[in-house]
Amino acid sequence: MTSPDRSAAGTERAERPAELRFEGRLIVLAVTGSIAAYKAVELARALTLSGADVQVLMTHTATSFVGPLTFETLTRRRVMRDPLELLPDSRIGHIVAADTADAILVAPATARWLAAMAHGLADDVITATCLASAAPVVVAPAMDGEMHAHPATVANLAALRAFGYTIVGPDTGALASGATGEGRLAEPSRILGALAGALADRPVRVPGASARPPLDPTIRPTDLAGYRVLVTAGGTAEPIDAVRFIGNRSTGKMGVAVAEAAIARGAEVTLVAGMTSVPLPQGVTLVRAETADRMRAAVLQALPAADVLVMAAAVADFRPAEIHDRKLARDGGLTLELEPTPDILADAARAVRRRWQQGTADDAADPASNGEPVRVRDAGAAPPPVLVGFAAETGSLQRAGDKLARKGVDLLVANDVSEPGSGFGTETNRVTVLAPEAAPEPWPLLPKHEVAHRLLDRVGALLAQRSARWVTGESRGEGVDSRPLGPAEADGNFRAFVGTESRTERRR
Ligand code: CTP
Repeated sequence: MTSPDRSAAGTERAERPAELRFEGRLIVLAVTGSIAAYKAVELARALTLSGADVQVLMTHTATSFVGPLTFETLTRRRVMRDPLELLPDSRIGHIVAADTADAILVAPATARWLAAMAHGLADDVITATCLASAAPVVVAPAMDGEMHAHPATVANLAALRAFGYTIVGPDTGALASGATGEGRLAEPSRILGALAGALADRPVRVPGASARPPLDPTIRPTDLAGYRVLVTAGGTAEPIDAVRFIGNRSTGKMGVAVAEAAIARGAEVTLVAGMTSVPLPQGVTLVRAETADRMRAAVLQALPAADVLVMAAAVADFRPAEIHDRKLARDGGLTLELEPTPDILADAARAVRRRWQQGTADDAADPASNGEPVRVRDAGAAPPPVLVGFAAETGSLQRAGDKLARKGVDLLVANDVSEPGSGFGTETNRVTVLAPEAAPEPWPLLPKHEVAHRLLDRVGALLAQRSARWVTGESRGEGVDSRPLGPAEADGNFRAFVGTESRTERRR
């Protein structure tokens, strides 16, 4: 057994303002049975959004206040509730948590738990973990004011301080009993500040992520509930004559995986499908658009009501300059003149910039409008959509950086389609994710549905950041907007663009 790390910060030092960065760390969030347990959900969310791995421990009473599923959905790890629990690989859960945690945050901490911890009574999973850990421990008590003032609690808190634990709060204010007193759980921002202070400049605990309690791949967050996700999938077919076309090898598998993952996470999904050869999911609004022109029209029509656009389609880059109505005869050969297709993603990004960042659009001048008058969606109603592109490269991903800037997207998923296991029709993909002002992030070879989920993790984080900036007016250059934030509202009046011949169906 290891002993508590007594170099952990004391209360005063730990509460200094600190940058709230927890990337790459494992934070064990321990929740005991107080009515304030629901606030731990906010802490779990903030920690995961800041890049931490989070393992939640709950006492049995805590599970009466908040369902473990809530935390499991946010952290994608099974909640530990019992000191006897084993991990799927038979390691003892709380010992693994104790040994791999960068910090343990007990929030809220009840009077009972403080007493148990002060006396080392390892009969609940949280006390057992703290006893077994060398990680800094931050404790945020919450209880009735009289309980907090009782000499027993005062002595127990003093014992925890003597262990080197950081105590944050409680605050004075309205309590669950209706009385006012010192017992309210400290504000989450203060708790996270104390946690960052306790971690200070410590290196990430070795041996690191591989030794931590594992993620449970069967747990998927429903973080996209209420959001509208627009996905394109498959290739396009650019007609030469009545029967022939220029196409590509795309099957639609990656785009379909993104659509399925988005549905699983609670999103409302519109799937714009080109030429596909995989089964299309149920539960989406399906728009068939088999040429670049139709796909462009379908995307630009659906975009104003979307919170996310994922352009996974392999749009043909060239199309015949002339389309023959009749089947061309074989005799005499054929020379085709090709012209470039419209860049749908770049047009979508341009439309977003015009409508959201500037608030109004000069409709006639907007290339995305085809010169048609377009009613502009109220740019104040919701943040701009998150735009995701894919980049199919062969041999090297060098061009992907330029593509990210050229397309004006938030995320670009680049892959080398010539690599074995990556590209058209495969079950797997090895991708590198690029974002503005960030180092390219190479992901390992993964099943396409796992790539889709990881991508949606990134999208979810961007949506959350965007909502936060939008609510403060930061990204609009405005003051605080008190309107309730929500996913994009449908705008039934948004005009259909010319040339829309796509077929829409609702798949249940
Ligand atoms: N894309 C698009 N419209 C096109 C071509 C591509 O919207 N006419 C989108 C794709 O769906 C993808 C991204 O742009 O999300 C990048 O596609 P890619 O084929 O890799 O790049 P291109 O722009 O076609 O450039 P190049 O062919 O020179 O690599």
